[in-house]
Amino acid sequence: MRQCWILLALFVQLATCDDDNLIDSNPIPAVFEPSWTFKCVPDEGCQRSESPLPTKSNSSSVFDSLDLCRTVCGRFGGLWPRPVTAALSLQTVKIHPNYIRFDLIDAPVETREVLAKMTQVATANLLDECDGNVTDLVETPVVVYITIKSSNLELSWNTDEHYILDVQSKDANIAVHIVAETIYGARHGLETFTQLVTSDKSDFSAQSSCGLRLVSGAKIRDKPVYPHRGLMLDTARNFIPMDDIKRMIDGMAATKLNVFHWHVTDSQSFPFESTRVPQFTRYGAYSSYEIYTTEEVRDLISYAQVRGVKVVIEIDAPAHAGNGWQWGKEYGFGDLAVCVNSKTWRSQCIQPPCGQLNPANHHMYRILQELYRDIAETLPKPSLFHMGGDEVFLSCWNSSQEIVSYMKDKGYDTNVEGFMKLWGEFHKKALQIWDEELLHTRQPEQPVMLWSSELTQPNVIQKYLSKDRYVIEVWEPLSSSLLSQLLRLGYRTVSVPKDIWYLDHGFWGVTKYSNWRRMYSHTLPVEANMLGGEVAMWSEYVDAQGLDTRIWPRAAAVAERLWSNPSASASVAEPRLHRLRSRLGSRGIRCDVLSPAWCAQHDARCL
Ligand SMILES: *[C@@H]1O[C@H](CO)[C@@H](O)[C@H](O)[C@H]1NC(C)=O
Ligand SMILES: *[C@@H]1O[C@H](CO)[C@@H](O)[C@H](O)[C@H]1NC(C)=O
Ligand SMILES: *[C@@H]1O[C@H](CO)[C@@H](O)[C@H](O)[C@H]1NC(C)=O
Repeated sequence: MRQCWILLALFVQLATCDDDNLIDSNPIPAVFEPSWTFKCVPDEGCQRSESPLPTKSNSSSVFDSLDLCRTVCGRFGGLWPRPVTAALSLQTVKIHPNYIRFDLIDAPVETREVLAKMTQVATANLLDECDGNVTDLVETPVVVYITIKSSNLELSWNTDEHYILDVQSKDANIAVHIVAETIYGARHGLETFTQLVTSDKSDFSAQSSCGLRLVSGAKIRDKPVYPHRGLMLDTARNFIPMDDIKRMIDGMAATKLNVFHWHVTDSQSFPFESTRVPQFTRYGAYSSYEIYTTEEVRDLISYAQVRGVKVVIEIDAPAHAGNGWQWGKEYGFGDLAVCVNSKTWRSQCIQPPCGQLNPANHHMYRILQELYRDIAETLPKPSLFHMGGDEVFLSCWNSSQEIVSYMKDKGYDTNVEGFMKLWGEFHKKALQIWDEELLHTRQPEQPVMLWSSELTQPNVIQKYLSKDRYVIEVWEPLSSSLLSQLLRLGYRTVSVPKDIWYLDHGFWGVTKYSNWRRMYSHTLPVEANMLGGEVAMWSEYVDAQGLDTRIWPRAAAVAERLWSNPSASASVAEPRLHRLRSRLGSRGIRCDVLSPAWCAQHDARCL
């Protein structure tokens, strides 16, 4: 009661000041919030006004909000990744999602269902700019005409992802044209279209209304430099719930990344449901809640497709396989894996818990085939599968009497060369059963992916792994020459230099954290067999709690590197990345901060 009276007394006093003293006799109004405006200055980007009072300027280059300034300022406005070419007007026009119509008449009938979903995602993204409620009603009609030539719905390394986007406002009509070869190119065009829109919420007034503004004129031509632009996520060291995975896919869609490499199993856990072999999750999942059901996986695959992303499942083998495989004896199949959960892990694997598939046990191959069948039936076509293949620990196999005597029977020595033969034999058999399962789903042979390892060294790889079948994902450090050597041998490769593009580095051991600038600055060779790269989120030290800020904005930096491979520096890109961060925020993705807010309000002044 007492406090209320004091408050009330204060209120009365303030009101009195306002009326009688401040406004009339003093030019400073009794408003404590600043009213910054932002000016788009050539070569300097968006700059905050000198004074916190709104600048009553008619200048077309002064804006009420930083987002609005960024959306139009500079050659590429607020677009991320940078398109090949862009010409943007400084002017914007008000639009409302209810008055946007998507015209799909020039798209083949077969594409329209997916395309319609793609347009729904675009509309939802526009609504997000106003937290889902665009209250400023304007009836300006916007028609988005989508022209597509190909009826092919497959996403592969051969997919043409280019698009042309053209925005024209005439009188009270806005026409947007998106021309592409495939639905994926058209989707990228739609994403870019949404990036030409921003809310008109000013930074200085807590007004409740929110409207959308679209750049009034734009001509954009765009296509990616690399066909493989991936984010790898490990969900075995720590489980990541499906909703969080979907949010990462949303971020990939926003940045035109197109491969979700899902490292779904490892020796720690096996959360991937196999309907044919339920033992995998029964013995391998951390809990009954930490499982990806087949239905959820299928749902994720179509969710990703609508966002221009292909899901590539990895079942790491023959190493990094333990929990989930430890039930063989109980079922009369012997040891399907060896060294599983071994207490003397240091001598048998890189990291606890140990586990390696048992290549001497034919039941193991039979069960692997059942798993492959489940996967082949689930993956989008053409099915791109990742067979793992990294970090085989020879002394684990060597510690198994069964494996050693199998090798004797085969005439393999138990020296390094003999174990390489055994390892090579595993991949040969694994590929054979995968091919059989592809036939089952009426697909011809497809290339598979494999991590680099001792088996992919230039002097041994040709003995065991054909360049027609295997694409090698090289995770060697920058100092390694393996990538260029494999390219020279004619292998198709994907690059994930671990000391630059590993998102977990800096969180364990002697590894060093790479910030987004460092990630951005790394370039890959440009040649046909260099398919692209991935940014890798290993999950030993991350789960859903810290996932967003661990991945973003750094994955976006790699995304632009892989999409446009710009020659300009990270500093030149930074203002656009600020805009992306704000955009991801409105779409529900918590992107880590790039700089003090003052630097964000004064482009190029903190260099
Ligand atoms: C701003 O616009 C008003 C009318 O719209 C005009 O009278 C005024 O001269 C303009 N000021 C400047 C600085 O261009
Ligand atoms: C949107 O905002 C308007 C005006 O502030 C309000 O009346 C309406 O209830 C809001 N709608 C939703 C779905 O939040
Ligand atoms: C495997 O074990 C045998 C016997 O202990 C040893 O001689 C051999 O060097 C080991 N092989 C490897 C590759 O470590």
